[in-house]
Amino acid sequence: MDHFTYRDGVLHAEDVPLPQIVAAVGSPVYVYSRATLTRHARVFLEGLGGVPQKHVAFAVKSNPNLAVLRLLAREGFGADCVSGGEVARALAAGMAPEGIVFSGVGKTAAELRQGIAAGIGQFNLESEEEGVELAQIAAAMGTTARAALRVNPDVDAGTHGKISTGKAENKFGVPYDRAAGIYGRLAALPGLELRGLAVHIGSQLASLDPLEAAFTKMGVLMQDIRAQGDSVSHMDLGGGIGVPYRAGEEFPSPAAYGAMVARVTGNWGATLMFEPGRVITGNSGVLVTRVIRVKPGVVAPFVVVDAAMNDLARPALYDAWHDFVAVEPSGAQMVANIVGPICESSDTFAMGRTIDAVGPGDLAVFRTAGAYGATMANTYNSRALVPEVMVDGDRWAVVAERIEPAAILAAERVPEWLD
Ligand code: LLP
Repeated sequence: MDHFTYRDGVLHAEDVPLPQIVAAVGSPVYVYSRATLTRHARVFLEGLGGVPQKHVAFAVKSNPNLAVLRLLAREGFGADCVSGGEVARALAAGMAPEGIVFSGVGKTAAELRQGIAAGIGQFNLESEEEGVELAQIAAAMGTTARAALRVNPDVDAGTHGKISTGKAENKFGVPYDRAAGIYGRLAALPGLELRGLAVHIGSQLASLDPLEAAFTKMGVLMQDIRAQGDSVSHMDLGGGIGVPYRAGEEFPSPAAYGAMVARVTGNWGATLMFEPGRVITGNSGVLVTRVIRVKPGVVAPFVVVDAAMNDLARPALYDAWHDFVAVEPSGAQMVANIVGPICESSDTFAMGRTIDAVGPGDLAVFRTAGAYGATMANTYNSRALVPEVMVDGDRWAVVAERIEPAAILAAERVPEWLD
């Protein structure tokens, strides 16, 4: 459910007609709905009502905008961060350091130091080597770092290969069969308070079954580790719940997810941690774009829009589907290819799709663009970095300015020895 609806034939974000935002900010522009974000945050927490001890750390990578983080901080969320930059954002948004989980497969020594200095709640270790390094750094700083060991459960998440993380051949976590041994060795190190296990098998999951299989395996491992005399007080179950991108698609609800978690983990006696991203932010945002022109094609016309793969990379990267709807639909439809202006064929949002009929100058939106949208934008073809707006009822604010090509050019230098 979201708050992007038609009123008097015009698509609104909450009470604001989208043309009003474009008139002031231009296009393309991401627009987020505060009410939708808040609703998704609360529905997720409600779904976990059957879990007595928990901490929910929002996956910052899905939408790191400062205003989004502030909103979620106020809803009681911590942050799952994967770089020093994300940690700095979470702190800037007002998140408590002890609510921050520092994940990521390649944290540098400088990032480990930064996290320790900031008082990060938990480092999710991706290898024994990283654990040894963290222990050494923390001991040298005269402190102890809290950590969990990420385990690769070798479970197929059944999602797109590029966003699967839990198969043995993926780069994430330590192999399941070696995890208890590694845990025992790391738990003995001064400088480290190893307090639990972490797992995340992939993103945009359409079924709870692989999650249940992974959590069940983690429960067995947890008991094995306790049986060898080591303490496990925290279990981080990651993120991954998918969201519908196409009208009519069905995905597991947070309530169904929460019920499954409560059933599988009921006797664990551990604090559970969660790292949801897409399920909070996905349907909370749209990318508004303007049709530049419609160009006849051999098979179907090309609707050339002013958004491109640099603004929304998901279709080019993962063949992802984003619904495309006109802001002021006439009721007529057309079959078209939707493409951006960038000079490669991967800059294609849809081929041969039946869409609202649009013509030059019309506004349209790509829906479900609140997760992994603006954050994956870049400036390819020397295009601007796309701006972001948040709507709250009948008011709205720019929450990330458009970075114009001139500003990017100004950061570049020609060495004098080229002259
Ligand atoms: N925790 C960890 C350790 C992760 O790697 C991720 C996502 C999450 C949590 C959050 O997963 P979510 O709840 O959002 O599914 N760019 C891709 C998605 C990459 C996901 C990476 N990891 C896309 O646009 O589909």
